[in-house]
Amino acid sequence: MIKKAVIPAAGLGTRFLPATKAQPKEMLPIIDTPVIQYVVQECVDSGIEDILIISGKGKRSIEDHFDRNFELEARFQEKDDESLFNQLRHIENMAHIHFIRQKELNGLGDAIYHARFHCGNEPFAVLLGDTIIDSVIPATQQMIDTFEQYRQPIIAVENVPAEKVSRYGIVGGTMISKKLLQLNEMIEKPAVDKAPSTLAVAGRYILTPDIFPILEKTPRGKGNEIQLTDALRILLKHHGIMAQIIEGKRHDLGDKLEFLKTTIEFALKRDEFAKPLREFLKQIIREK
Ligand code: UTP
Repeated sequence: MIKKAVIPAAGLGTRFLPATKAQPKEMLPIIDTPVIQYVVQECVDSGIEDILIISGKGKRSIEDHFDRNFELEARFQEKDDESLFNQLRHIENMAHIHFIRQKELNGLGDAIYHARFHCGNEPFAVLLGDTIIDSVIPATQQMIDTFEQYRQPIIAVENVPAEKVSRYGIVGGTMISKKLLQLNEMIEKPAVDKAPSTLAVAGRYILTPDIFPILEKTPRGKGNEIQLTDALRILLKHHGIMAQIIEGKRHDLGDKLEFLKTTIEFALKRDEFAKPLREFLKQIIREK
């Protein structure tokens, strides 16, 4: 059973400046819900209620978001607005959320290394705090089911168009079923003709504590940061790792265009917005 999750959310979010100059990208809302709330919901829907968020400078609003807000609660109680009151209580009680600060931004590998005492000897899930995976069965649940069977670390991957492989971490290996790959290589942003597949790393992992002593010794790599990919490549030398093609759609909300598309896509799924938004989109496209 996987009972713990780690959500790295300390990054600078430079791709989303100036919005992220003084607020975390993980708190940007898709319509009315911060990205990180979707991520915490995925943990909860996958049966995980013990969550460590890797926080940092300028990220205090993430803590406030999952804390109680007595003033707002009192306001909605007075007004007898049960729906909003319940929404607030839901957020406050979603899970047991702990925070640790990554004091220096030394990369995703270093962020995860901060979880070593929290995770102890247990396997754990990692969910990037700026990535939503929209799916029927939560992505983390899909991976937990695989982990229960194979007991190996798992990297979530998605198929991307060939012309886009040079933007992602790409995995290679032997297909052992329609959705599972026994990994034998990982390449960061390969040229199309050097890519072993079109399967890109998708922001979700199941890891075992074996990763911590490796992270401790992983030298700084790309961007002078401690890269999780480099540590996984070392792990791969003496430990099986699997890649799982996730059933669902990945949204990297650290990217501005992806953020816009996701907002529209999610709004079109909401009853109160679908019709007027569709009409508005048709109208502005006609006018262009
Ligand atoms: P990204 O590489 O997308 O985050 O990391 P970033 O560095 O904030 O992005 P840009 O390129 O500057 O826009 C994926 C996740 O890992 C976290 C980020 O907060 C994000 O949720 N992260 C990254 C950390 O927690 N610590 C780090 O040192 C780096």
